[in-house]
Amino acid sequence: MNKKAVDIAPATGKLGILTPGMGAVSTTFIAGVIAVRKGIGKPIGSLTQMGTIRLGKRTEHRSPQIKDFVPLADLKDIVFGGWDIFEDNAYEAAVKAGVLDKTLLDQIKPELEQVKPMPGVFSKDYVKLLDGTYVKKGKNKLDLAEQLREDIRQFKSKNNLDRVVIVWCGSTEVYITEDSVHQSLEAFEKGLADDHPAIAPSMIYAYAALKEGVPYANGAPNLSVDTPALQELALKMNLPISGKDFKTGQTFMKTLLAPGFKARLLGLSGWFSTNILGNRDGEVLDDPASFKSKEVSKLGVLEYILQPKVYPDLYDNIYHKVRINYYPPRGDNKEGWDNIDIFGWLNYPMQIKVDFLCRDSILAAPIVLDLALFTDLAQRANMKGIQEWLSFYYKSPMVAKGLYPEHDIFIQLMKLKNTLRYLKGEDLITHLGLEYYD
Ligand SMILES: NC(=O)c1ccc[n+]([C@@H]2O[C@H](COP(=O)([O-])OP(=O)(O)OC[C@H]3O[C@@H](n4cnc5c(N)ncnc54)[C@H](O)[C@@H]3O)[C@@H](O)[C@H]2O)c1
Repeated sequence: MNKKAVDIAPATGKLGILTPGMGAVSTTFIAGVIAVRKGIGKPIGSLTQMGTIRLGKRTEHRSPQIKDFVPLADLKDIVFGGWDIFEDNAYEAAVKAGVLDKTLLDQIKPELEQVKPMPGVFSKDYVKLLDGTYVKKGKNKLDLAEQLREDIRQFKSKNNLDRVVIVWCGSTEVYITEDSVHQSLEAFEKGLADDHPAIAPSMIYAYAALKEGVPYANGAPNLSVDTPALQELALKMNLPISGKDFKTGQTFMKTLLAPGFKARLLGLSGWFSTNILGNRDGEVLDDPASFKSKEVSKLGVLEYILQPKVYPDLYDNIYHKVRINYYPPRGDNKEGWDNIDIFGWLNYPMQIKVDFLCRDSILAAPIVLDLALFTDLAQRANMKGIQEWLSFYYKSPMVAKGLYPEHDIFIQLMKLKNTLRYLKGEDLITHLGLEYYD
């Protein structure tokens, strides 16, 4: 160790994790953490719980667990809460989501039943296929934001919490692009008071969170906190933010495979991805406007990983298509097919087929946990604004203006771990192996 470690406030007291949206992902996350706490499950897929980090030279044999290396909140200190537009408690919602076995859910039923959603801020203009029945009313969007702020304060005081983080696990909203109302905090606050139509419910949550000193991570492709106005607020309030859209199934596969093709300089002429899924997320994505948000989020990855401008012979002419089909019999057990047309030496074509029978929420739950714990760490380490080191978890990582997002999952992981090394004053690992030349 030769650098100064960053001052990080200790993870004392309790951490509240609030999720707007208490559906399949959120309840699988909550039930999973409770099961792990009780010793009836393992936190598989979670870097904060199971990952290690190599420090120093390989000869030093120092590879502590990440949770022993940086001060993360302990699972036993987490308190759950959230909002939804349906009144089901976390037990009822988890049973309906059908992700986890009822036998497991019944073992933790009393804990889950205690997690009751607060009424959500909702607009059918933004999620067309849901009819929320448990929805806040207010005289304008500023009033709704005030109500959410009051919810956060109540949640914090009632549970005697030290800190709170918010991870958006609500439905995917319709696709919108930035409007003038999103360009500055002043314009945004005026827009809230004027009920501006381009302010989506997810933005009202993000605004309320930041105003209450609560960091915000965005698990859906909605613009949400990804606007200049809310980034300005995050910087003003000294708060970390990140997004967008948990990287779980098919895009996870894409960001594993594409860097491999590029590494071996194999060309790509087409990538056709299709999915069937039958959960509520699939139902919402059946609306073309919500699907458009998802599509934009999913399509970006190849362009950035493969760099067609740098490798025109290999990647200049890719046909990339993504389809999502709502198919109720599958429930949360999605099936994602990829047909990949690649070419090699002298342009000889080859094909790869991937058929990933995944479980969406099983893949997403550890991401919610890691994002909550790392975001809380970032807050205690005084890291404000967009947390690019958390790109590892997202399909469509937020970046500062003028930068392009990093999609290659291996570079993302290196960036994440180097950020942790930096925080603790450890040497960054470049894999140069310069000791041989010393
Ligand atoms: N499961 C995955 O692998 C995965 C991956 C990437 C992103 N996501 C995104 O995560 C989100 C959650 O996915 P899910 O499978 O849990 O979906 P879900 O439909 O089971 O849960 C979403 C919940 O949000 C609620 N909701 C909708 N609008 C709300 C609002 N304005 N305020 C409060 N609650 C609201 C819905 O009633 C529902 O209970 C979706 O946006 C999805 O696209 C999921």
